[in-house]
Amino acid sequence: MSESAVAQAATAAADPAAGDPLLQVDDLKVHFPVTEGLLKRQVGTIKAVDGVSFKLARGETFSLVGESGCGKSTTALAVLRMQTVTAGRILFEGVDVTHHSAARMRPIRRRMQMVYQDPFGSLNPRMKVSAIIGEPLVIHGLAGDREAHRARIRELMALVGLLPDMADRYPHEFSGGQRQRIGIARSLALDPSLLVCDEPVSALDVSIQAQVVNLMMDLQRRLGLTYLFIAHDLSVVRHISNRVAVMYLGRIVEIADRDVLFNAPKHPYTEALLAAVPVANPEIEANRAQQIIKGEVPSVRNPPSGCHFHPRCVHAMPRCRVESPALRPRDDGRLIACHLYD
Ligand SMILES: Nc1ncnc2c1ncn2[C@@H]1O[C@H](COP(=O)(O)OP(=O)(O)O)[C@@H](O)[C@H]1O
Ligand SMILES: [Mg+2]
Repeated sequence: MSESAVAQAATAAADPAAGDPLLQVDDLKVHFPVTEGLLKRQVGTIKAVDGVSFKLARGETFSLVGESGCGKSTTALAVLRMQTVTAGRILFEGVDVTHHSAARMRPIRRRMQMVYQDPFGSLNPRMKVSAIIGEPLVIHGLAGDREAHRARIRELMALVGLLPDMADRYPHEFSGGQRQRIGIARSLALDPSLLVCDEPVSALDVSIQAQVVNLMMDLQRRLGLTYLFIAHDLSVVRHISNRVAVMYLGRIVEIADRDVLFNAPKHPYTEALLAAVPVANPEIEANRAQQIIKGEVPSVRNPPSGCHFHPRCVHAMPRCRVESPALRPRDDGRLIACHLYD
């Protein structure tokens, strides 16, 4: 194979969404001004998301992982256009929505919905379950006649495993897992193609997490949903994802198929992140090279020069201090932003 053919094959593997992606994010930047004093003089910039690109194929689960503060939620909110975009481009179902007004976003928002982390705070305590689940239909003028509306709510409840007689109850009467089912039913009301799930099971008991994750996987198969999934629990990510992107201080450092990433992480940060996860098997635990991420996460307000990870990287070279590595496809199909692989 010629060099360019190799590069092309690598790009195809790294990019299963190449043909007709549901979502395409190009060089997304979300910067927040840091202001000081009464006059709110700008004294700095938080580059919460600083040049993030990825694509989601229809029907897949693409996960964003990384330590707290690395820009996962800001990326999710920008995709949903619930956060102003500083630069870059967001294409959803082939339409560039980066600069759509709220009015133009309205019909598109039906197709992209959020599942929130907090099943306690995100449900209105004064509304009955039926009203919570049916509200998006009412807001979008799609409720239809009374009987059709009630039938749709019953259908949504059944879909997420809630019993019909729960319709007249209030959120406080439910467990965390059931409340998250209510939240999911609500997010499905408008028949979306994309669900953006920001830590959807992080607030739940571990014993309940698997039930909700399995429900989400079942719904994905039945409804053909695409998930942008955010979680810091890597075992959940490993279970649900097709592909995973690892973020560090506003940038993606590695994107790979789930098994490729978990079986053989390559970016030093991915390696360190996975090494920090305890393994149930004591033999593996004992033989594993114990790698600890050196130091604290630096401030996103004042990130290190060059490769943001270099002060904590066990492989750092002089070049890493000055030159920011680009996220590039490698021979085995994954994308890595690291000078070690240049
Ligand atoms: N509205 C905002 N104004 C200023 N800074 C923000 C805002 N939202 C997020 N940030 C900052 O952006 C960075 C990324 O935050 P976030 O996207 O919530 O990270 P994650 O979800 O990965 O924990 C953090 O440093 C956070 O403090
Ligand atoms: Mg977050």
